[in-house]
Amino acid sequence: MLQKELLNWYGLNQRELPWRNTRDPYIIWLSEVILQQTRVQQGLPYFQKFLQKYPDVFSMASAKEDQILKLWQGLGYYSRARNMHQTAKLVVENLNGQFPNSYKELLKLKGIGPYTAAAIASFAFNETVAVLDGNVFRVLSRLYAKDDPINSSIGKKVFEELAFQFLNKSNPATHNQAMMELGALICTPLKPLCSNCPLQNSCHANKLGLVQTLPVKLKKAKVRTRFLHYFIIENKGKIAIYQRPNGDIWHNLFDLPAIEDVSHKDLQTLKNKLLELNWIQPSDEVEFLHQIKHILTHQHLEALYFLVRTKNKPFINGKEIWIEPNALKLKAIPRLFDKFLDWWKSNDLGNLTLKK
Ligand code: ADE
Repeated sequence: MLQKELLNWYGLNQRELPWRNTRDPYIIWLSEVILQQTRVQQGLPYFQKFLQKYPDVFSMASAKEDQILKLWQGLGYYSRARNMHQTAKLVVENLNGQFPNSYKELLKLKGIGPYTAAAIASFAFNETVAVLDGNVFRVLSRLYAKDDPINSSIGKKVFEELAFQFLNKSNPATHNQAMMELGALICTPLKPLCSNCPLQNSCHANKLGLVQTLPVKLKKAKVRTRFLHYFIIENKGKIAIYQRPNGDIWHNLFDLPAIEDVSHKDLQTLKNKLLELNWIQPSDEVEFLHQIKHILTHQHLEALYFLVRTKNKPFINGKEIWIEPNALKLKAIPRLFDKFLDWWKSNDLGNLTLKK
């Protein structure tokens, strides 16, 4: 039986890691939170520091957040540390310091996703759930020569089912550890050591010569940088905003009139464009205010903000409304606009004041 071969291999070849050989859910949770997006060698010293300073969930719960963040320094993704601390407090305050003992309940805790919940439920409580991390995706995709993309929703479903089918139901904890270890030590991304693999004879990718092409991962959409020039167009204490049409990421949100271009333009070029658009008259002043960079999954936004005071109310695009700045908080606006309002609240724009 393949599962048996896997366990034999694991028994002989596993690395000695300090979070193995324990069933303490706190210790397992701590190790898994640290190891999310961190290599074992990098994570090890952090795990040891944390366990020394906070040997149980009670000591972590009573720590100050900045002590936790200080100890976390260098690991990045600080929200992981904050979530970990909040979860420790919740476990102490609401659950008498006892971690939930099932996958389903663990999943409800902050910072615990399907992977971490399955790891804790199986390692600590031997629940019959399969762990799926990058290592396991790779092993399964090669073992069964499955080319469903591992980062697509269909692929996730396929591999979830496969992982559960392949799970050794009589020893889920060790089976899951062994799958991860096989992926980490033998079935590696670039140069897998197939001749040392206990599953080699049953591996479909090995038979078909597909080891190098599996698993399949969909390429991320390219990140696009957008250069935006936003204008606070003021007339008699009111400013122009308009509701963005369908067809972009901000549809139906209210936004400032803007000029988008392939790069940022200088003030004189912008003034000429504003004159062409009839948004200003030659005697109107245009003043640079602020710059904001905002990063979204597929877009990097580079935004410049300008103040334009107009003597005659201009026609913008027919969709504009003129409102007092303090009424902006009643409108749904893009996060980028919100960031600009934060700046505006602490800066003096003459008659255009924003209440904090
Ligand atoms: N990476 C994430 N979790 C791990 C674990 N429990 N053992 C080894 N590597 C890991």
